[in-house]
Formats: sequence, structure tokens, C-alpha cells
Amino acid sequence: MTEEERMVSAGTDSLQEEVLEESLRPQRLSQYIGQDKVIQELNIYIQAATYRKEALDHVLLYGPPGLGKTTLAQVIANEMGVGIHTTSGPAIEKPGDLMVLLNELQPGDVLFIDEIHRLPRIVEEILYSAMEDFFVDIIVGQDTTARPVHFTLPPFTLIGATTKAGSLSSPLRTRFGIVLRMDYYKEEDLKNIVIRSSGVLNTTIESSGAVEIARRSRGTPRIANRLLRRVRDFSQVYADGIITEDVADQALTLLRVDEKGLDAIDRRILSTMIDFYHGGPVGIGAIAASIGEDRDTIEDMYEPYLLQIGFLQRTQRGRVVTDVAYGHLGYATKNQ
Ligand code: ADE
Repeated sequence: MTEEERMVSAGTDSLQEEVLEESLRPQRLSQYIGQDKVIQELNIYIQAATYRKEALDHVLLYGPPGLGKTTLAQVIANEMGVGIHTTSGPAIEKPGDLMVLLNELQPGDVLFIDEIHRLPRIVEEILYSAMEDFFVDIIVGQDTTARPVHFTLPPFTLIGATTKAGSLSSPLRTRFGIVLRMDYYKEEDLKNIVIRSSGVLNTTIESSGAVEIARRSRGTPRIANRLLRRVRDFSQVYADGIITEDVADQALTLLRVDEKGLDAIDRRILSTMIDFYHGGPVGIGAIAASIGEDRDTIEDMYEPYLLQIGFLQRTQRGRVVTDVAYGHLGYATKNQ
């Protein structure tokens, strides 16, 4: 695989690309395209909380990666007109790390914790009273000098994001008053996101070009925006800078993003399962070892979409490649 393909596959960006990605994100609810039900609900809760001059209730956002959970947390803070403090589950190793963050909160602020399912249990337990009654009781000092200290906190909004809602403990999950599931974007929404992003990037795109990128973006705005930037590069070098359907198709084919939006790693997962495991059932650990990818990466980044489009099935005994996937990859189906 080329470096380019690796970056597209692994979802990694250079620093410059990350800055660019930032500039493509919507800042307000009115600019947000897709996730209509989520946006509609949030709009009501935000207006009501603003009207009552209260902090917004705690929000849990869950769903596959790349669907805009971090973006939405920022949009919520913007709409509420409050500050946002961003961190992630694995970054908070001990209670003291959380105390530093809680200590910085102004009334109404948002504390955004990405990958909240990865919070250490001891930290999570401190969050319970912080979320419910805005206080924290911790033990300060050691042995003979140890004493309990009571901290009161300003009302704040915890926004937790996770790709694994099932991994959240029940006491934590039930403390979120607003629980919203984000799902893969519809093609029409992705097309409009690509058109909006082209405007931000000062690039001319035909509607059919935007459809082609949308169709091959796996329902994920982050992928759509990344592919748009690559297609834009291609159009400037090989065409007149205008993204037509043909230009988009050629560029995406060069990047080995196929008709269904699958990239080299998606296809390697499926073909390895077919070639070495007769299409399954096979465990995720065995697949990961066979293709030399991290198990969590496969489980969190690749598998959900393959399940969604019906290329994979999960059974008690492991993952199974479906007939549709056999056909897509050009294999004779299992029963033929
Ligand atoms: N850029 C990335 N995600 C977006 C969204 N949901 N709406 C508008 N622009 C976006």
C-alpha cells in the first residue's frame, strides 16, 4: 500500500490536514447537516435550558467513529454560549487528573470526555456525585494526614462520547439525562456536506461529483471530507480543477476506494476471511493476527460498516462473510 492509501485507510491525518478538517466542521446547529433526529432533540433541550438559564443536562453521544461526536460537543457549547474543556477517557489516569479539569469549570461549561468507556473505574466513581449533585468528596493526604475534603462545583454539562455504549457501566450511563445515538449518514446528507466543504475549500464541484464522493464515503463525514481533499488534489493536477463525477471516480479508483467505499484494509479483512477461513465463522483475534492490524482498530473502525452494509455477520461462533461480499469481491459464492 502507498503512504497515501495507508493514511486514507487508517484514518490518520497530518497536522495540516487536521487543521483543514477543523475548518470544515460546522459551528452551529443550523449549519449541521444530517442526524436530523439528534439535532432536532438537541435543539429543544438547548432552547429549554437556555430559557431557564440552567446548564444543559449531561449528554451521552454514542455510535461508530467519524460521525461527528466531537464536532457536536463543540456545537452544543457554542449554542449554549459556554466554554468547553476537552479530554478523553484514557487521558484521565487518576482522580487528581479529573480534579484539575473540574476545578477549571465555570458555571454552565461543557466538559467533553471522548472515549468515555475507557475511564478508569476509580475516576468514574468520582464523576457520579459530580454529575448528580455537583460536588466531589475526596481524600487528601496520606496515612495519618489523610482527611476527607468536600469540593462544590458549579453546574456544568458533561458530554461523553463513545463508540461502545455497551461497555459503559450502568451507574455512569444512567446519570446522563440525554442519550443520543448517532448513525451513519444518508448519502444525500453526505452529498450536501461535501458541497458545503467544497465551498469552504474554494473548490468547484458538480453535484454528480459530490454524489460520487458521498457514495464512497462509508456514511462518514470525516471520510467524505478526506476523500474530497484527495479528489481536489487530483482534479488540480489532472483536470481543470473542477470536480466532476468522472474526475471523482478516477481519483477514488486511484486511491483504491471501490464502488462501495471499501478501502484496501476492508477488502483485505474480507479476502483473508475467505481465503484462510472459508468465509468464517472466525474470531476477530484470528482475523487481526492474520492481517497484522490491531484488533480494536478492526472492531471499532472497519467492522461496524461491513456489518451495516451486510458484508459481515456476527454469530455466536465468530464473524461470517456473506454472499453479497463474496459477489462484490469477485469470488464465487460459498454454495456455488
Ligand atoms: N462537516 C463534517 N460534518 C458535518 C456535518 N454534519 N454538517 C456539516 N458539515 C460537516
